[in-house]
Amino acid sequence: MLEVTDLVVRYGNATALDGVSLQVGEGEMVALVGPNGAGKSTLVNTLSGILRPVSGSIEVDGRLAQVPEGRQLFPDLSVADNLRLGAWRSRRRAGARDPRRIYEILPDLERMAKQPAGTLSGGQQQMVAVGRALMADPDILAVDELSLGLAPLVVADLVRHLRELNASRGTAVLLIEQNARLAFDLCERAYVLESGTITMSGSSAELSRSDAVARAYLGGLTDSEAS
Ligand SMILES: Nc1ncnc2c1ncn2[C@@H]1O[C@H](COP(=O)(O)OP(=O)(O)OP(=O)(O)O)[C@@H](O)[C@H]1O
Ligand SMILES: [Mg+2]
Repeated sequence: MLEVTDLVVRYGNATALDGVSLQVGEGEMVALVGPNGAGKSTLVNTLSGILRPVSGSIEVDGRLAQVPEGRQLFPDLSVADNLRLGAWRSRRRAGARDPRRIYEILPDLERMAKQPAGTLSGGQQQMVAVGRALMADPDILAVDELSLGLAPLVVADLVRHLRELNASRGTAVLLIEQNARLAFDLCERAYVLESGTITMSGSSAELSRSDAVARAYLGGLTDSEAS
């Protein structure tokens, strides 16, 4: 579904990604965790074509859509118009720009349809950002910081929607998260990105048992100690 090989991305002289390789299979949910400045957003922005790699390759089997870090909604536009913007590239298909098909997946958005996006709560805005990405009918969804700044209950609701989407439509997910526990719970497999390189990868269960991961990302406790 997604195959990234030896990706190198630079900002001027500064190397942000230094030979990153990773895969996401069809219908798979995969996590990418790492500290601030590791290059996570750089990776997502390169996947979606906002940034151009110096070298390496990205193969996507189907369509990839991005939920960008910090949502990036147009605050003065209505929720419905923000959703429509997610389909600006698919104007030719009949009904492609009709946000009503998103209300079937994210029903809460329907009653906010006419409200300016900037007046919504953080969690509601994140829901709009997910909905906007879904307007492109993606085969793989890259979510940059799902939980950032959101209360646990709100995050749980978003997670439920992602799970449902994955189960009912087979949409693959690449989940970028600073909350490693959440990422490992939701995804079978994970990669750890540090200073522009993948330092660890494996099943989420394995990674949560690793001391190095626990110290850096799980507040010092391995899964067995935590439970
Ligand atoms: N537009 C830019 N110009 C120059 N350097 C940049 C730019 N954007 C990011 N960087 C640098 O690239 C590195 C990776 O940044 P990136 O935003 O990808 O990290 P991140 O893992 O998403 O961090 P965070 O968890 O804080 O979102 C950092 O050192 C950052 O300072
Ligand atoms: Mg980031």
